This record gives sequence, structure tokens and C-alpha cells, in this order.
Amino acid sequence: MYRVDSPGRVNLIGEHTDYALGYAMPMAINIHTVLHAMEDEQIRVYSQIFREVKEFSLDDIRRSGDWADYIKGIFWVLREEGHEVGGMKGILNGDLPIGSGLGSSASLELAVLAFLNEAYKLRLLPIEMALLAQKAENEFVGVPCGILDQFIMTHGKKEHVIFLDTDTLRHEYIKFPRDIQVIVFYTGVKRELANSAYAERRKVAEETLGLLGKRTSKEVEEAELRNIPSLYRRLFGYIVRENRRVLEARDALREGDVDTLGELITASHWDLARSYDVSCEELDFFVRRSLQLGAYGAKLTGTGFGGSAIAIVDSDRALSIARTVLEEYQRTFNWEADYYLVLPTDGVAVRRV
Ligand code: GLA
Repeated sequence: MYRVDSPGRVNLIGEHTDYALGYAMPMAINIHTVLHAMEDEQIRVYSQIFREVKEFSLDDIRRSGDWADYIKGIFWVLREEGHEVGGMKGILNGDLPIGSGLGSSASLELAVLAFLNEAYKLRLLPIEMALLAQKAENEFVGVPCGILDQFIMTHGKKEHVIFLDTDTLRHEYIKFPRDIQVIVFYTGVKRELANSAYAERRKVAEETLGLLGKRTSKEVEEAELRNIPSLYRRLFGYIVRENRRVLEARDALREGDVDTLGELITASHWDLARSYDVSCEELDFFVRRSLQLGAYGAKLTGTGFGGSAIAIVDSDRALSIARTVLEEYQRTFNWEADYYLVLPTDGVAVRRV
């Protein structure tokens, strides 16, 4: 029997830049999808969260429009890429909330892939696992995500964030300040709109690159956007500014300058809200209140439109800030919100139990 711990992720800064091949700065977080599994002939997985069993056979991998697709996607992509595996019998649980904008789909896909890699001795490198899981999500599940989630979940490192160039996949580990903690705030808002709006944003980014004759957003200056249609200018303008903020955030973090890091994170949020149109009232509420209560910086994390936000705060004030905002939030909105105090952690890990 194997146990897999597959983390969630937050992105400190560099949101919606990965599909335009820009910069990002994610960290794996210490809330996980946990999979206990062993080899079997067919596939049979029980989810303690859904209280449901999914069963299918290796030669009948078809989309079903539910959580089994994340598992099927991995079997599908392994076959596509010529890796031979048998089936599995497993139980899924863990404390990573599902559908909350913390990367739960990628986390589940990587849990399954990491198990199969170990059990069937595929010898896949972390980067190969990241790319396979992204391909499963893009081509089997049908979500046109970038590499952000899969990369950090396979490369995360305790006490560090990663500065990532999503084009070259070159990356740098930067120490996360010791006495700082990240509050993750789940708004309880799940919007169907998120998937279609995400795909539209990605399309605009790709079309803008086409119009400009550029391969990546890293090569674009804001002044070059002058002559393109105004919607494209507004959306892509955000990406160009965000890339610059990530570079500045990397420099600030190298120096341990949390004040500057915080300002950049907050600037990212308001730019995401005003120029990229991916925020909402609930996310803005959390950002505003946590700043007023003393956070260095706060922003939405992941796709937006609901989901989760983060704030970076002094560790000794984290709990009181999180509690206060949650209380006020629940007086204002009717959603089932929650918070997690998290730290940077290692990427997906498998051990025999
Ligand atoms: C989702 C996607 C990522 C990335 C973020 C936004 O989490 O899976 O690839 O695009 O949204 O930064």
C-alpha cells in the first residue's frame, strides 16, 4: 500500500500570466489531497469527501463529467504518451477543499499520477509529471489551464516560494520569510462562469500575442498595445504589468522586503479586479478588510470569480486577523466561508505504508 500526499497551491503573484508564458510566484501549501492506494487489475476509487465509489476498467476510459474524470484523465494521458500501467484500488481524503480555487483538480490528478509512477516504476521526473497532468487537464478534462498548478505541486519546497518563468520553466527557489504566514480565505463562492471566462481570457491573450507577432508576454511592452482593440489592450495591459510586478516581487523577496512584496501583491489584486475583471465583491471584501487589519498585502489567488484569496501577515497576528475577517464576512455574505493558515511545503510525495 502507498500513501500519496499531494499539496494544494497558492500563487503569491503572477496571476493569469502562465497561459501567456509570463512569470509567476507560487508556493505549495500544507493542505493536501491524500490518496491511499495499491495496484489492481481495474480502477476502483472511493472518495471520503463525496462518499462515493467510482469504478471503471482500463480499456474503457471515457469522460463522465464528474470527479472520476481527473483520475481517468491520468490513465488516458499515460496511454497517449506510451506509458504502460495497470489499475488501482484507492481511497481519497485529505484536507484540501474541493473547487475552492486552491488547485484541487491538479492536486488530485498528481496524486494519482505520483502513485502510478511509483507503483508501476515509470521513472517519470517531476517536470514530466507536471506536463502529463497539464495535458490530462487540457485535453481530457477540457480545461485550458496553464502549467502553474502542476509545476508547483511537483516542485514545491518547504519554506520556499518559486519564482517561475512559465515559458522556459526555469525557476528559482526563494526563502519565504520566517515570521510571515499566509492566510488563505475561501469565500465559499463557486461560479460556473469561471471556466468559460477563463477560456475567454486565454483566447484573448493568445490572439493579442498573434496580433503583436510575439511568442510570449515577457517580450511585450505596454506602449506596444496602443494600436490594438481596446478590450485586448485593457486585458493584455494587465498581463504586461503583472509580469513586471512578479520580477519586482522576486527582487523584494530575495531581500526579505515584505513591505514591498505586500504592496505588489495588493496592486496585483486591484489590477486583476479593475483591468482583468476576474474579481468579485466577496474577494474584494476580504482584501480590503485584511489590509485594514494589518496585512502586508492581499489578493485573489487562482482563477478568481470567487474561490480563494490570500493575505500575507505577521505570524503572531494571523489567527486574529483571519477570525475577525471571517466573522465580518459572515455577517455580510451568506456563503460558507473558511480560512486556513498555511506555509510553503514540499511537492507531491509518495511513501509505502
Ligand atoms: C488556474 C489555472 C492556472 C493559472 C491560474 C491563474 O489556477 O489552472 O494555470 O492560469 O488559474 O493564474
